[in-house]
Amino acid sequence: VTSYDKFLSTTGQRLAESALRRMGTALAGREDLVSFAPGYPDPLMFPWEELRDIAGGLLARRDPRTLQYGPTRGFRRLRETALGLVERRGIAATLEQLVVTSGSQQGIDLIARVLLDPGDVVLVESPTFTGAVAAFRNARAEVVGIGLETDGIDLGGLDRAWQRASAEGKTVKFLYVIPNFQNPTGTLLSLHKRTALVDWATRRDVLIVEDDPYGFLYFVGAASEADTRPICADDPSGRTLYLNTVSKMLAPGFRVGWMLAPRPLADRFDTAKQSTDLSSGILDQLIVDEALRRGVADRLAPRLRERYQSKCRVMEQALARHLGATITWRPPAGGFFIWATLPEPWTDAALLRCAEQEGVIFVTGSAFHVDGQGQNTIRLSFATPPPADIDEGVRRLSRALRHTPRPSPQGRDSRSSVRPGSA
Ligand SMILES: Cc1ncc(COP(=O)(O)O)c(C=O)c1O
Repeated sequence: VTSYDKFLSTTGQRLAESALRRMGTALAGREDLVSFAPGYPDPLMFPWEELRDIAGGLLARRDPRTLQYGPTRGFRRLRETALGLVERRGIAATLEQLVVTSGSQQGIDLIARVLLDPGDVVLVESPTFTGAVAAFRNARAEVVGIGLETDGIDLGGLDRAWQRASAEGKTVKFLYVIPNFQNPTGTLLSLHKRTALVDWATRRDVLIVEDDPYGFLYFVGAASEADTRPICADDPSGRTLYLNTVSKMLAPGFRVGWMLAPRPLADRFDTAKQSTDLSSGILDQLIVDEALRRGVADRLAPRLRERYQSKCRVMEQALARHLGATITWRPPAGGFFIWATLPEPWTDAALLRCAEQEGVIFVTGSAFHVDGQGQNTIRLSFATPPPADIDEGVRRLSRALRHTPRPSPQGRDSRSSVRPGSA
């Protein structure tokens, strides 16, 4: 048999498989599994009828552009529509600054390719979105985690990390931050810290990469649109790159998002994208553009907020009922996730093993940490399962917690067995 290892590049060797996806296959046989693992939108909320109408109309018109190659930077009408959306969020930008991407994941990947050299430092919230960490690590950057407080990233810790890296002669290129209902913790960055971050980035001469897929999903009464104002909107220095996506507002299957960057960088991202996919899917872009222009996302947004808020409530009530005395969590003010802390000496990995046997899964908290911490935490997504399953899943979780062997305090499992997938 041929050994292919010698053909692999350093990056190729280091690529980490998503254990969540692997686990998805392994557990596919169990039909009644309740999954709190992936951050997938609720499929019952996909706007099927309107999308069918739009797609049917586009294909019926037989405009050759619909199925032709298109510009790398994106279909112009969609770029204008997307620019309108970011302007509504308070961001002033020009069309030249906007690049359509195949989901915000591609935006993150392009940023990694264009900005990072091996050994460069990227600062991230800890815990943070694993898809971003993977992209930064593939570029062989050093990813340094900064602690999260209830109102977002620890500013003191952030500057200390910058000073440490600089003292070691390393270049800190940017801070990657998810200000709104952060994945995985649900944390909302305070407005005061948003301003402080721009001041800090200017003082330390670094960029900010602002990833905002959940900003519109605030829970009425707990947060407002004003609380989710993008950092980029109040950054006169032009240091903030802003990433947005239709994955949560319409459907992730489109693989359509966009990034806003200062013009010279936008041009570099465009060039990097040329060799990645030539362009994002044109049909997807056309459908998304028409859906946005017809107000599909605007009409859907309040219903999504209501839906996720009510599912979050169902999960919180179930947690309080079945596990209230055992685990703790901070009620999220929006988004998809509840981030829960397990009591000593339980570990995320030990609990997951038992939970799988009971028929419920989640993502281990340590998987979101860049430094192996977080083994006393788990991420529970309430976004995908129907409300009745959420209650049943939490029941199973409580059974798992009762059955989990309690490791000795020194004997916390050293490695978690599950890493999250792309969401
Ligand atoms: C913080 C964050 N960024 C990016 C993504 C990827 O989104 P997209 O589907 O737009 O690639 C996700 C997906 O869950 C996410 O949570």
